Amino acid sequence: LFASVEMTPGDPILGLTEAYLADTRAGKVNLGVGIYYDEQGRIPLMRAVREVEQALALEAKSRGYLPIDGMPAYDQATQRLVFGAESPLLAAGRVATSQTVGGSGALRVGADLLRKALPEAKVAISSPSWENHRVVFTAAGFEVVDYAYYDPSTHGLDFAGMQADLGKLEPGTVVLLHACCHNPTGVDLTVEQWKQVVALVKDRGLLPFIDMAYQGFDKGIDADAVAVRLFAESGIESFVVANSYSKSFSLYGERVGALSIVGANREETLRVQSLVKRTIRSNYSSPSTHGAALVAGVLNSVELRAMWEAELGEMRERIHAMRAGMVEKLAANGAPQFDFIQRQAGMFSYSGLSKAQVDRLREEYAIYAIGTGRICVAALNRGNLETVVAAVGAVSRL
Ligand code: LMR
Repeated sequence: LFASVEMTPGDPILGLTEAYLADTRAGKVNLGVGIYYDEQGRIPLMRAVREVEQALALEAKSRGYLPIDGMPAYDQATQRLVFGAESPLLAAGRVATSQTVGGSGALRVGADLLRKALPEAKVAISSPSWENHRVVFTAAGFEVVDYAYYDPSTHGLDFAGMQADLGKLEPGTVVLLHACCHNPTGVDLTVEQWKQVVALVKDRGLLPFIDMAYQGFDKGIDADAVAVRLFAESGIESFVVANSYSKSFSLYGERVGALSIVGANREETLRVQSLVKRTIRSNYSSPSTHGAALVAGVLNSVELRAMWEAELGEMRERIHAMRAGMVEKLAANGAPQFDFIQRQAGMFSYSGLSKAQVDRLREEYAIYAIGTGRICVAALNRGNLETVVAAVGAVSRL
């Protein structure tokens, strides 16, 4: 029956983790997948999350089905975090938020919904973008095109190219934008550049779809949401936001994310929400309870939210310190050309390492990075930094 099924290539990110786990060499380092590890090399269970989890265990509540669009306390807390508690859009009932199976689930539900609402539209993603963006939107039936974003010669943003490409898109095109901590490059827009992009997108009649998977990982909760806030203020009729708590709550396996759709008015938003619910019901029916209860429990408590934000701040500072440490040690190792790593933001850096250099890192040094040269700086710690720097220095010298 399946005789004609061909072997599908492994996932470039999660497939690499499989290879890493199978590697028996001591001292191996996984700079592939986007996961934050602490100084001890562990995925943290955040203090505020632990508090809620313990309280939930004591309550030992029964588990009915959640509504199709998720736990109301979670959806409302998410809206306030993403749009700001005082957002006029929320007061006007113009945002429909649905709990989804992680940020990827939000992207896919959003993509399926847009395919029904805008069957002729194309989707434009940054060049490069997270590998799965193209996969998700293509699987939903869209033609995916690229817009210029990264300039390898400066390891920074090709802003002129980005503006030129966005300016050429057909009105109605869906534009996928990374809110902050761009994955895979670590290269973000300044607030001033965001203002120009918001104006351009609005004038051109494009539909922004903002992916915010790293809120709080660069500057802080509100500062990292500046793109969302600027679109909200711009008077644009509709836009879409996918957000994830995988990284900001260190709840990767709980698959906690949300899709928020901004409609022109309350009535239109309700109609869109009915289509979101149909889309979810026809896919996985309704989301699961535990992760959402953890996030809602933290965000809806003043004390726990403050505790969470403080710990997130510590994680952010640790990443900044690792970036600085890497640049300093590489320079001391005769590789001063990596100073741009400190200018990039979030979990990732597009290191500029070639596929051949990445292969050598893995084969000779048991250090795993994505073939594009993307490294996860959030997996560095004082215990593995020297090893990584020595290996990166060695492969970039020869
Ligand atoms: C990543 O980019 O490494 C993460 O977002 C994990 C994933 O699902 O790819």
